[in-house]
Amino acid sequence: MNNIDYQKIFLEITAELEGIDDVGEVASYIPELGKVNPSKLGIHLMTVDKTGYSLGDSNEKFSIQSIAKVLSLTLALKIMGKDMWCRVGVEPSGSAFNSLVQLENEKGIPRNPFINAGAIVVCDILVSCLQNPKVELLDFIRKTSGIDTVKYCPEVADSEKKTGYRNYALTYFMKSFGNIHNDVDVVLDLYFHLCSIEMTCKELTQTFLFLAYAGVNPITNVRVISPERSKRINSVMQMCGFYDEAGEFAFKTGLPGKSGVGGGIIAVHPGQFCIAVWSPKLNVNGNSYKGMKVLEALTSKTQSSIF
Ligand code: DON
Repeated sequence: MNNIDYQKIFLEITAELEGIDDVGEVASYIPELGKVNPSKLGIHLMTVDKTGYSLGDSNEKFSIQSIAKVLSLTLALKIMGKDMWCRVGVEPSGSAFNSLVQLENEKGIPRNPFINAGAIVVCDILVSCLQNPKVELLDFIRKTSGIDTVKYCPEVADSEKKTGYRNYALTYFMKSFGNIHNDVDVVLDLYFHLCSIEMTCKELTQTFLFLAYAGVNPITNVRVISPERSKRINSVMQMCGFYDEAGEFAFKTGLPGKSGVGGGIIAVHPGQFCIAVWSPKLNVNGNSYKGMKVLEALTSKTQSSIF
């Protein structure tokens, strides 16, 4: 393993960030998310040899939102295999996470599994394949991460349901093309719960470390997915994990990653580490303003991008 002193690097980065005005804003279109303390900052990095480095609020739970879409994709891939790729693509959308526009010309097939439309199709697949999708998805996450306390936040799921007009529109639109097979309310209930999952930065790294270790979680020794599919999930994160800012994140950070509107980001260096950052204020594209800066600085200072 490399012998980089990540702790020292984190202190350097946060000292540099103190001089920067955080122009981001906390997501408030889901009212429950607007209640978070905007000044939180947590970082946790875990290497594949299970050494952890923490800073700030890294042990505080927050709403992981779209980061969870990587876990629903992992489970759907495990169950359905490559056949799922005729329901959802693997191309960057270059559009906002909740955009409707491409669906009309593309026959209701979302560009990728991380935009809302794509994640909703993945939920539809899980509803078709599982007896009790909400329970089985959570069991899968608990078993593979080794964290028994992972749970949904009912208040966030409910808040999102009450204001999720776009997601209803996306789902009905895709159903009109035949790409949603189940009842819209059932599919969205799973989607809203998926997005409401709460974890700490440390728990996120423990959950996603399998993507740095060819599909095996080195902490639980559970094979989460095959090496080939682990590669593919990282590839989709690289190209699509930040929506219309995926190019910018690749350009500045150079790691596969996934963001959520709760202000969290995970990034993976295959063969080396997984890192999670949490800072709730978001830039105009819905990605954590400071979180992106932390990751850019980390890979620049340690020369640890994949490129
Ligand atoms: O569907 C929504 O609007 C949210 N549950 C998820 C959005 C999200 O996290 C997008 N990512 N940055």
